[in-house]
Amino acid sequence: MHIDKLEKNWAGISLGIAGLFVAVILGSAFFHGIHAPSNVETIDSAKLHLSAEFAEDKLGVQRNPNGSVTVRMVAGRYGFYPKDLTLPAETAITFRWVSLDVIHGVHMPMTNMSTMIVPGYVAQVTTELHHAGDYPLLCNEYCGMGHAHMWSNIKVVS
Ligand code: CUA
Repeated sequence: MHIDKLEKNWAGISLGIAGLFVAVILGSAFFHGIHAPSNVETIDSAKLHLSAEFAEDKLGVQRNPNGSVTVRMVAGRYGFYPKDLTLPAETAITFRWVSLDVIHGVHMPMTNMSTMIVPGYVAQVTTELHHAGDYPLLCNEYCGMGHAHMWSNIKVVS
């Protein structure tokens, strides 16, 4: 079978590019330890109110002995609970979210914080907030008719 030389060259170039992408992915994941922000930790979404961590009185901001902060929130149509949070600036903050019902997203504009909240799993992001001010915490995953009204208010204080 005859394959045109030009076609062979281009096939080689495209395979080379595909190979380069695989090498970059493997290199970053295994040699540099770079992974997608993910947290595989399951939870029963129907029994959050009975869980040790996400019962209503456990939600909100918690100071840890080492000075860091853990924030626990529940996302459900159509709100994040608690609705208002005050957080310290320049402090390691670990957010932990669970969903009551469907897939929600969470995004804080003007920061790099964004993740999905999948029912049945605990979504977790650790970040630092550098600028004092008022920020919305928005749902960025379409979750139904009230999606546009789903947010919490975050006050960052320095
Ligand atoms: Cu929750 Cu959109």
